[in-house]
Amino acid sequence: MRIAVIGAGYVGLVQGIGIARFGHQVTIYETDFQKINSLEAGIIPFFEMGLQETFAAHKDKIKFEFVNTIQTPTHYNDIKNHDIVFIAVGTPPSQYDGSADLRVLISCIQSLHDIGVKCVVIKSTVPPGTAEEIIYKSNSQLQIISNPEFLREGSALQDFMRPDRIVLGGDKGSPEFKKVMDFYKDMYSKLDYFTPDFIETDNTTAELSKYASNAFLAMKVTYINEMANLCRMIGANANEVAKIMGTDPRIGAKFLKPGPGFGGSCFPKDVQALIRVAERSGVRLSLVEQLQNSNDRRLIQMADDISLMMEQSQAVNPKVAVFGLGFKANTDDTRGSPASIICPILDERGIHVVEYDSLIKISAIRMGIVRDPKKFCPEGIDGVVILTECQEFRDIILNAQLKPGTVIMDLRNLFDNQEFANMNVSYFNLG
Ligand SMILES: NC(=O)c1ccc[n+]([C@@H]2O[C@H](COP(=O)([O-])OP(=O)(O)OC[C@H]3O[C@@H](n4cnc5c(N)ncnc54)[C@H](O)[C@@H]3O)[C@@H](O)[C@H]2O)c1
Repeated sequence: MRIAVIGAGYVGLVQGIGIARFGHQVTIYETDFQKINSLEAGIIPFFEMGLQETFAAHKDKIKFEFVNTIQTPTHYNDIKNHDIVFIAVGTPPSQYDGSADLRVLISCIQSLHDIGVKCVVIKSTVPPGTAEEIIYKSNSQLQIISNPEFLREGSALQDFMRPDRIVLGGDKGSPEFKKVMDFYKDMYSKLDYFTPDFIETDNTTAELSKYASNAFLAMKVTYINEMANLCRMIGANANEVAKIMGTDPRIGAKFLKPGPGFGGSCFPKDVQALIRVAERSGVRLSLVEQLQNSNDRRLIQMADDISLMMEQSQAVNPKVAVFGLGFKANTDDTRGSPASIICPILDERGIHVVEYDSLIKISAIRMGIVRDPKKFCPEGIDGVVILTECQEFRDIILNAQLKPGTVIMDLRNLFDNQEFANMNVSYFNLG
């Protein structure tokens, strides 16, 4: 089949390259000229495990088209000759109230509609009601199929290849809906011993399922972080509490590990957008409302803890090495990462920060050079802060010649307390 994907970001590129891997011809439309240049030169513009290699192997099936945004994105060259059109453009939080900013998405759909595209599949995360509203306003036969994306950065290609479920929302009786569902079923039928759940529903339910899932995961993270605060005050071990809870299949161990707070381009924005949707519908989502506040407090508390530890260490002009700038391990995405919040606060408080991450070259957080963790130089370092769960940090830190009294703040519980027992350092974790 010929498949079009609009937007060459984390979702669009993974979708496009993943589909090409199954033998389909794919055209990816993108407004960012630099991204197109990089992709045409064979280079994925961000890090995602296995994506570069898969791209190299299937490049011959993928074509890139630059889309001009000077007025509206009008140059969707040849798009009508594709069997399915997926949209994976960003839906960032609006500056005013945190609701999803749908301007780019709507202008894309408008352009596609103007040139006669009859069906569009939305992979972007959009508030419930979006598809219905667009269909209503288009006042025509435009079909919108909602196909929320559940991939996780860091394992996005693997998630594409083995999704838990494929959710399609829309007019289940329509030929377009059947075509998209058949496309997915046929694609995944080629895999041995694996079938995702295929779920058919209406647009609004599909749209809400994505927000409801993300808010729930954010809630699990926030819950265990609050429990970790309590553990600290009463002398319980937060790691063990989390482990015991996680053995209950009704609860599950995933997303139940104390950490510095959630970040990234999805959880914070989706939590805010969901709250706005509920407010407009006259519904209080009181649990969800608390998430962002609690998480914001958590991140500030982490910065406070680091500042306090450095103060107590009595280091003059303290210098800390921060390990892990992405919002989690295995990604170079720094959008909303704990480091993007904590490092500037430390800076403001006169704590000199040196950043280490092997995936990020220039720090979007501090506009400086990020050092390779393998070249960690402990000279002059008074504190080490671990912000992502990146296993390579373990050996590097354990084998470094840290100066006596160095404070290690392990905000991902990468180490056990005992591992530093014979070293002259102060180790602190969230256990
Ligand atoms: N990143 C994730 O982990 C993830 C997971 C699930 C769902 N989502 C959702 O998927 C959507 C995309 O997320 P992302 O992280 O891939 O975003 P992204 O910012 O990485 O990518 C979006 C891409 O669309 C391009 N673009 C913007 N306007 C365009 C236009 N008119 N025509 C063609 N391309 C255009 C941008 O230049 C950018 O490259 C969002 O709604 C997000 O919430 C993201």
